[in-house]
Amino acid sequence: MRNQRIEKTGSVEAAPLEDKETGQPISRDLTRRTFITAATASVAALAAARIIPPGILRAVAAPRGGGAVVRNALHIPPVTPVQVPPGTFLPLWAAPATVDLGGEGGHKYSSVLAYNGTFPGPTLIARQGDVAAIRLHNGLTNEPTITHWHGMVVPTVADGHPLYAIAPGATYDYEFQINQRACLNFYHPHPHMLTSKQVNLGLAGGFIVRDAEEDNLHLPSGVYEVPLILRDASFDSAGNLTYNPTSSGFFGKTSLVNGTLNPKLNVDRGVYRFRVLNGSNARVYRIALSNGAPFTVIGNDGGLLESAVSVSQIEFGPGERLDLLVDFSGLSGGNKIMLRDLAARWDLIEFVGTGNGGYAYTPPSPLSTIVSLSGPTNVTRLFSFEGMHSINGLRYEMNRIDFQVPFGVTERWRFTTKGNAPHPVHVHGASFQVVSRSGGRGQVFPWERGWKDTVLLNDKEAVEVLIRFDQYRSSLYLLHCHQLEHEDQGMMSNFEVV
Ligand code: C2O
Ligand code: CU
Ligand code: CU
Repeated sequence: MRNQRIEKTGSVEAAPLEDKETGQPISRDLTRRTFITAATASVAALAAARIIPPGILRAVAAPRGGGAVVRNALHIPPVTPVQVPPGTFLPLWAAPATVDLGGEGGHKYSSVLAYNGTFPGPTLIARQGDVAAIRLHNGLTNEPTITHWHGMVVPTVADGHPLYAIAPGATYDYEFQINQRACLNFYHPHPHMLTSKQVNLGLAGGFIVRDAEEDNLHLPSGVYEVPLILRDASFDSAGNLTYNPTSSGFFGKTSLVNGTLNPKLNVDRGVYRFRVLNGSNARVYRIALSNGAPFTVIGNDGGLLESAVSVSQIEFGPGERLDLLVDFSGLSGGNKIMLRDLAARWDLIEFVGTGNGGYAYTPPSPLSTIVSLSGPTNVTRLFSFEGMHSINGLRYEMNRIDFQVPFGVTERWRFTTKGNAPHPVHVHGASFQVVSRSGGRGQVFPWERGWKDTVLLNDKEAVEVLIRFDQYRSSLYLLHCHQLEHEDQGMMSNFEVV
């Protein structure tokens, strides 16, 4: 099985090297390179002697990097329920691990940090009303950590605030009831100034909430519901994941989907439900299908949209989620469609038709009911995201409370930027409704309707949201940029719901 923990730490023999030009990990098997060089030399010698076997010349003359990419089966993280028998806890270990990223037609081992030894971490799952009981174990060598359940509305003590970070060897018990709609959330570390590094080195996973409303839609499920955790990555010369941000953030040279290099997924002739999470530190994706077919967007951060909407490209930033239906009923056996990122011009994952019958599905209309928040037409609070480290002139201080929000009152928040965007703005403790975007892209996109907890703020844009904290009174929450290097440099505020 892929991605099981092989040993606690340390690199292994077969780790990949990075190709200097493509940034793609390459085989560490030096004999392969040596062989190619030798083959080239001998063909040159043969050519000089005009006795070239035709097959050999063609093989050697293939353009560099033009050979077919060997694709690896997409890794699907194990699914783990968070409601466990009373008095017990689901153990969640944050620790160094060695995992297999797939690799070009073979195994590529990499040292990472992982939850429960898998990369990404196990997909946690719960139903609305469940009580999650999770015991975080800090198995890191020398760093504090704490886990945040991004998108989950929970009391402060369960929210993974950096004040609650635990030392190596310590544990932290979480218990919280899930009182929200079906959705895909994102768990990851949140320790002071260490979030970006720990997430980048592999501590991240999906957290799926189910409910009766979603059950009634009979959406594609089982093998037809697939998580796609997108992120970028860099590798050191030993083939291990390495965190090497520049001042403007971490931009890896390689794409990983569910921790798999060059992934593929065999798909039947039917509709698939993809639960997509942008798990990158800083990278904004603009996804599209290579055949130009649209995505049917049925949900986002906070669950189902009011109705399904068809779009051919989607731009989304770190921390945002998408619930997408893709219809492969026209894809015959052996034919392929690529999910691409138009921003970086990357191939993210290849879908290969099996030719077998699949799940026929058309979403009903409406899908759900979204009650619009009604709130003030004037801005209640203005947040200016400045440089790479401040909000309204303040850098984050763990012990300073920057503002107080009245419990149960709908407010209108306006997010603006003074440069260094994109800033994916994220709020803990409540979902919000995006009501306007002016300047820049100048519109609220179809995938930003419904309930969100993270919204992308580009240069020259002002985004307004309506938000109401109506779950937990007297709580301490965070507002921050989810470009994780910005967050760690101080683009984060503490606020209290009072
Ligand atoms: Cu996903 Cu405060 O973070
Ligand atoms: Cu969060
Ligand atoms: Cu930012």
